[in-house]
Amino acid sequence: MASLHLPCATTGTTNTSATSRPLFPKQSHFIASPKRTRRLQVSCTNNGHSKKHSSENTETSQGKVDRRNMLLGLSGLYGAANLASAPEAPANPIQAPVLDKCGAATNLNTGKQLDINCCPPVVQNVIDYKLPPVRRLKLRPSAHRVSAEYIFKYNLAIDRMKRLPKEDPRSFMQQANIHCAYCNGAYDQPGQGTLDLQVHNSWLFFPFHRWYLYFYERILGKLINDPTFALPFWNWDNPKGMTIPPMFNDPTAAIFDEKRNQANLPPAVVDLGMTGNKDPLQVVSNNLTIMYAEMIRGNSSVTDFMGKPYREGTPVNPGPGASERGSHTAVHVWVGDPRQPSGEDLGNFYSAGRDPLFYCHHGNCDRMWTLWQYHLPSAKVPDRTITDPDYLNTQFLFYDENAQLVRVTVKDCVSNRAMGYDYERIDLPWLDYRPPPQTATAKVTRAATEAAKAETVFPLNLDKIVRVLVPKTKKGKADEVLVIENITVDTSKFLKFDVFINDEDDNVLELDKAAYAGTYAQVPHRTTTQTATTSIQLKLTELYDDMDVTDDEDVLITLVPRHQGDGITIGGIKIIENPTPTPAPAPAAAPSS
Ligand code: C2O
Repeated sequence: MASLHLPCATTGTTNTSATSRPLFPKQSHFIASPKRTRRLQVSCTNNGHSKKHSSENTETSQGKVDRRNMLLGLSGLYGAANLASAPEAPANPIQAPVLDKCGAATNLNTGKQLDINCCPPVVQNVIDYKLPPVRRLKLRPSAHRVSAEYIFKYNLAIDRMKRLPKEDPRSFMQQANIHCAYCNGAYDQPGQGTLDLQVHNSWLFFPFHRWYLYFYERILGKLINDPTFALPFWNWDNPKGMTIPPMFNDPTAAIFDEKRNQANLPPAVVDLGMTGNKDPLQVVSNNLTIMYAEMIRGNSSVTDFMGKPYREGTPVNPGPGASERGSHTAVHVWVGDPRQPSGEDLGNFYSAGRDPLFYCHHGNCDRMWTLWQYHLPSAKVPDRTITDPDYLNTQFLFYDENAQLVRVTVKDCVSNRAMGYDYERIDLPWLDYRPPPQTATAKVTRAATEAAKAETVFPLNLDKIVRVLVPKTKKGKADEVLVIENITVDTSKFLKFDVFINDEDDNVLELDKAAYAGTYAQVPHRTTTQTATTSIQLKLTELYDDMDVTDDEDVLITLVPRHQGDGITIGGIKIIENPTPTPAPAPAAAPSS
């Protein structure tokens, strides 16, 4: 079914400016794990950070009391049972981690503690970061289109980062370890016992990585005396960008990393579906369909795209958004090196930041957020902004380009332009890549004889293809959402499954068809408990439009695992009415970024 209309026109420019001389004397490259032998002892009650922190806690607990009073008032009217089960009751935002409580990260793939401590240096002085005024927007270029001059500057900057003293929080490994600390269980949520702080698989995914790249970019710019320096983005959503960008493949370059899957070096086409299909044209078509599904067709609400709420006290992995679990996860795992014990570097969160390609990959993930916010009326989601104060007031800590520890909030990163950057404009060939309608009638009748009813098969261990019948809320075409609940995952493994509805041909290597509904996938990482329970939602409305479901009371769901062995249990599947009804069709979007 791979019929492609490959886009040709691309527009925009890359920014170029004069290069400069090295700022730092040559030193040996920093390679070793930054295991610190001694941790600075800082009293929690004596530093500015903690004082600020506790005063904020007072304010927020006051807020919590107010909200509880309000809810208690309501409970008089509606009863305590409603209060207890209110799913989205405000709690408190996730607080910035306490750096001197950072602990060792663990790599559970190899069953032992990692020989690394990815905790940052602890200092007493933390300041609240203020976005500097924007004089001129930096333009992040497509990594496949950059000039030789840009490549030189980028390598120079990374090389200088690698030569910084290893204790310098701006050094290459310290920067890589930011990801390890926030993603592999090194931090606990402040005030929540040993509950892990984890920035993936929730609504914090986009904001955390945006801030991370923001400071990384400023540090690189400072190291080459070029405040206009902008990170590149890996344009893996466009057929012209579906290989590892050429500049990353020069073994003599500072941005090279040998820990990558050797089978996936160019000219291999990135497989966003991880189906293992060997036909490059089919893979490209699968990729564009995945982009269409995760950006346009599959989301019923803003959190379906961004990820589920994650507040103080929420266990890790409440639910990844469509883009995070789909294209984002695939690129990590596709690049990670199977010769390494845990898919290092990109294939595991603790090591991902050690490959400069990580930041280029995340440039495109961040670009997807900007597209979602400003350029996708065809996504038919009424509101594409999260206004929940627990989201907006979430805090993170980073070191800025001057090695100053700063506290940032989510609300200051919701506009990329206010942060001073934008993306080179590139065509979006997936924007209208709606699969052709399915002509054969749905197989529900035939399947009814061979597929079990959903209520009889769950919970189940998803280690092979499973087909189940799930009842619709009403017959025929309806505005409905598929909910896959209580997905329990072994967080140390790569796990992925695709979801098809009423699939007419059962060819699981092809995703470019009306029956493909979406994906769950995760990058291996660590949590204290090693398992997490999560859920996802997939909007079905447009899929029904493209198939004959007129007389159907059930939908045949096919779950296709793309990993080997166990690791994932599915608690249940149901179909509900779309809680945020699909608005009337919007005018077509301008193909821009
Ligand atoms: Cu923090 Cu792509 O991961």
